[in-house]
Amino acid sequence: MPAVQVVRGRRLAELSAPEFEALLARHRSLAVDVGTGDGRFAYGLARQHPDRLVVGLDTARDRMREISWRAQRKPSRGGLPNLLLVWASVEQPPPELRGRADEVHVVLPWGRLLAGLVLASPAVLDGIRELAAPGASVHLVLGADVWSDPIPTEVRDLPEVTVEHAHRVLAPAYRERGLALVEARQLEPDEIAGLRSSWARRLAGGRLRPRFVSLRALACG
Ligand SMILES: C[S@@+](CC[C@H](N)C(=O)[O-])C[C@H]1O[C@@H](n2cnc3c(N)ncnc32)[C@H](O)[C@@H]1O
Repeated sequence: MPAVQVVRGRRLAELSAPEFEALLARHRSLAVDVGTGDGRFAYGLARQHPDRLVVGLDTARDRMREISWRAQRKPSRGGLPNLLLVWASVEQPPPELRGRADEVHVVLPWGRLLAGLVLASPAVLDGIRELAAPGASVHLVLGADVWSDPIPTEVRDLPEVTVEHAHRVLAPAYRERGLALVEARQLEPDEIAGLRSSWARRLAGGRLRPRFVSLRALACG
């Protein structure tokens, strides 16, 4: 029987479909942060919206350990009962989450996740679309400075994502996978500062003005 693989410090706990359903029923809605990394962005979202269930999802289990541990503490000590860090890939999201999120985020993806978004690969876009309920908002933030010298080997063969490329190439390709692009633009410095992502903080610390491209899409019904 499938179950949601939840990171709890060093342990991995399994949440059955009825257990996940019961948890979700106690919340107004579900937001999923795909490629959550250490989970800081998801933690911030969960703290800001205690009535929403927030799931951070990543293939790298160990990175989620610290924040998953913090989320389990008493609320007075930073605990957040509305945050789950889940060990899974975007290509195979847990069935329990499918079609349930009214908000899906991807902040500064890397590896297969970045390549899939940039190349509009069905495996990655279908995973995101599967998580989203019809009409859900999908927000992607891509770090455009990776295409400046020295370009990392992982990115060398990927087309550079600019606002123009997003409108011309990604919009029609995303549409085919059930995601309608509604906005593509560069983020302003104050928006980058407000991202509450560890990776954003790291990049913003290294450059005076990092270039982040923000893509917003709606999941088609
Ligand atoms: C650069 S980190 C960004 C982490 C976080 N979003 C942040 O802003 O700090 C990219 C993350 O994407 C995750 N990732 C890469 N491919 C993935 C996939 N196929 N499914 C889920 N997560 C993936 C990596 O494990 C990594 O944690």
